[in-house]
Amino acid sequence: MDLEIIKQFDGYEDVVREAEVCRKYGLDYNAEGGAEPVVRLYHPDRLNLRVAEVIEEAGSAKTLRLVSEDGYLPPFLAGQYIALYVQVGGIRTGRPYSIASPPNQTGYYDLTVRRVPEGLVSNYLLDEVKPGHRLESSGPAGHFHHNPLFHDSTMICLAGGSGITPFASMIREVLERGLDRTIYLFYGNKRLGEAIYHDRLMDLSRHFDNFIYIPVVEEPEESDRCPVGLITAGLIRDMVGEVKDKTFYLCGPRAMYDFCVPELEKLEAPRRKIIKEVYGAPLDVQRSPGWPEAVRADDTFPVRVGGRTVQARAGESLLTALEKSGLAPPSVCRSGECSLCRVKLVSGRVFQPSGVSLRKADQRFGYVHACVSYPLEELEILL
Ligand SMILES: Cc1cc2nc3c(=O)[nH]c(=O)nc-3n(C[C@H](O)[C@H](O)[C@H](O)COP(=O)(O)OP(=O)(O)OC[C@H]3O[C@@H](n4cnc5c(N)ncnc54)[C@H](O)[C@@H]3O)c2cc1C
Ligand code: FES
Repeated sequence: MDLEIIKQFDGYEDVVREAEVCRKYGLDYNAEGGAEPVVRLYHPDRLNLRVAEVIEEAGSAKTLRLVSEDGYLPPFLAGQYIALYVQVGGIRTGRPYSIASPPNQTGYYDLTVRRVPEGLVSNYLLDEVKPGHRLESSGPAGHFHHNPLFHDSTMICLAGGSGITPFASMIREVLERGLDRTIYLFYGNKRLGEAIYHDRLMDLSRHFDNFIYIPVVEEPEESDRCPVGLITAGLIRDMVGEVKDKTFYLCGPRAMYDFCVPELEKLEAPRRKIIKEVYGAPLDVQRSPGWPEAVRADDTFPVRVGGRTVQARAGESLLTALEKSGLAPPSVCRSGECSLCRVKLVSGRVFQPSGVSLRKADQRFGYVHACVSYPLEELEILL
């Protein structure tokens, strides 16, 4: 980068001063091998993992207990995820999975994977992956975690289905480390038998006064003793009282957000106190608001990229089309959050569902996130 431009950055002078102090006392980050090994230790691009155990869970889910092949797992914040990279059906692809074990458990990462009907990677992980299997992943990533500086110490967690996984990590961290926080967990499922970790959550709530577990089911059995229906404003008010000085965390399917966010608004919970995990690309992009009626999901368009032309379906993300052609950019979140899959749109139009946020500079210079961009006509892109 042009040195004159670097000098314009905020804090440039401070960094130069700090570097001089470090050099004086024998720590030279500019020296060969200086900062890079430290950065790689805490933020590695890739982890080499081995499946140590596979644990059966409720609701067609399994927990993969992953240990490091490199002798070290980087630290993470409870609530973060890693992307697993796999080769399935001739396609090299990745999917994010939240780390369900707590950060204080440094020997392994637990990922709990639930089956998605017809899903490429979930079915592969559940059916093909056994103890001893080697997997590659990204380092931990994501912004969905408790921030002790800005968030309240009373945490109201709303989970749906496999959206329980980041909360499993947060809850165990708080309880096992004796942190001064109170957690209310509302966990919605169709049936109680599908509630992942239900027995363990019940046990924890019996042992710790600062953890209140409220399973909520839509189709209860006669013997179920829990609220029936959805997680409504009324139920939240009954269980937690005033919303003042409480931070809300949501993780689950998109339909749950569509229902629960307005319920929280009824309670006048401020927007900035509602922390939402990203939920991946839309399940059926054609149903997204603003999708052009003239385009059908099966319409196929040529995409010119690096001297090659690949075919891309309108109903499938550009990232998936590129992966099928072996040309994919790196990816982690597949939700438009991490920016790793950025591509420059030289010509043509793509559909980007509402809620996809692009940096201002990306918008200005014509970049899009391939994981949440859908071709609407012939395209030319730069990787
Ligand atoms: C930040 C983050 C964390 C995640 N953590 C977990 C986790 O801890 N455990 C876990 O099991 N999953 C988790 N997921 C979801 C996971 O990344 C995959 O999306 C999921 O396993 C499905 O992948 P697949 O390849 O099997 O399905 P795909 O082949 O990608 O999808 C196949 C079809 O199913 C639809 N589909 C995709 N996902 C779902 C879904 N969830 N429900 C219904 N239909 C769907 C798609 O629209 C498509 O039509 C997380 C996602 C994100 C963004
Ligand atoms: S993979 Fe993260 S923005 Fe696309």
